[in-house]
Amino acid sequence: MKKSVIKTPISDFVEKYALSSAVRFHMPGHKGEDFTGSEIFDLTEIDGADSLYQASGIIAESEDNASEIFGCKTFYSTEGSSLAIRAMMRLIDLYAGLKGEKTTILAGRNAHSTFLSSAIAIGFKVEWIYPEKGNYLSCEITPRRLGKILSSSKKLPAALYITSPDYSGNIADIKGLAEICKKYGVILAVDNAHGAYLKFLTPSSHPIDLGADICVDSAHKTLPCLTGGAYLHISNDAPSVFAERAKNALALFGSTSPSYLILRSLDKLNAYLNDGFKDKLRKTVNAVSEIKRELSEKGYALIGSETLKITVDANGYGYTGKELNAILRSENIFSEFYDDKLLVLMISPENSDEDLIKLRNALLSIPRKTPIIDLSPDFYIPKKIMEIKEAAKKPSYIERVERSVGKVVSEAIVKCPPAVSVVVGGELVDEKVKDLLIKYGIEELILVK
Ligand SMILES: Cc1ncc(COP(=O)(O)O)c(C=O)c1O
Repeated sequence: MKKSVIKTPISDFVEKYALSSAVRFHMPGHKGEDFTGSEIFDLTEIDGADSLYQASGIIAESEDNASEIFGCKTFYSTEGSSLAIRAMMRLIDLYAGLKGEKTTILAGRNAHSTFLSSAIAIGFKVEWIYPEKGNYLSCEITPRRLGKILSSSKKLPAALYITSPDYSGNIADIKGLAEICKKYGVILAVDNAHGAYLKFLTPSSHPIDLGADICVDSAHKTLPCLTGGAYLHISNDAPSVFAERAKNALALFGSTSPSYLILRSLDKLNAYLNDGFKDKLRKTVNAVSEIKRELSEKGYALIGSETLKITVDANGYGYTGKELNAILRSENIFSEFYDDKLLVLMISPENSDEDLIKLRNALLSIPRKTPIIDLSPDFYIPKKIMEIKEAAKKPSYIERVERSVGKVVSEAIVKCPPAVSVVVGGELVDEKVKDLLIKYGIEELILVK
């Protein structure tokens, strides 16, 4: 990437307008008056500001800049990867439909809840690949495993949908999976919500560079972008209908009032990413690797290979994730996620050296205790009674989990984070499912009557 060639047309427009003393007879109703500090830059699609879903001006120019950076066709979402996932699934369904096929998606069971809502909204069938070990947050799919599944399929799925990196920091062999997908003519779709920064590692390990056809990244999760900023990326080798219909697919589920605060943030990010970000990232990756090395030496077991996450197997160190989190909280350090077993910390180049030292010192000062052996199951495969989309249409009611045994789930209620479901629509609640739901803190279900 060359330095300083990336312009910031959205940001320039918004800043010029904000300083121009324009008289605002348009939305939003705050008229630029200061309520939270950000109103002055908060516009809508006024004259000259372009239109997100019919972009031909400053937004199109900014998306072209992002496309240049990511080396594919990149489209903005101001409603997170959640919107981009729905759009991605719509494009795959459209493509399958154009080929005269009914859409079935083969998906890792650790899919985010927006994948489930896409199945309801779009109506595709889902065939799950379940974790062989671990818990709901991870689902290892090796090329070998995928090859076996596809070679024994009576009818090939339209796409393989994987989550990589997953919430606990595991990364799939996307290059290997892409080769198998290509061999069988199956689209490879990746939820890369946690991995926008992978593009800037050397070499890049971004899914599109490794052979994925389509993927989503939450810019806001790992890059300095306001919450909600995300990308839908389409490989130059993907079916042409993906890029042709991407805007429509996003518009199908997105708000007609996109946030210009987020668009400006995505736009400014282009210039930032193009100007020394790789070096900054390299420095952070090295610092995190050093902290991980010290933690391992101290006796911590760490999970996953993702460079910017530290995922601690808390039980192995003698604690629950909740207890480790409480110790960090007492030092004013906030984690991304914790549960009985895990503690997940997300780092970015915007963390200062002092932040990292504080985290390192806090973790290293926690004494190691006898490991907690928790033999209760972390995962169970519920019995499928009907498709997700079918279950969602049935008459339904809300019930306490303890009173749900013997019933079929109509719509999953998913706790966020991590927004991964123990039981999904169309599956039977038996004693084991009930126990797991209680273990993971889910209290109510929407059941088929
Ligand atoms: C794996 C995964 N996919 C998708 C999403 C949705 O991303 P966003 O918050 O950008 O809508 C999340 C959110 O946490 C996630 O963890």
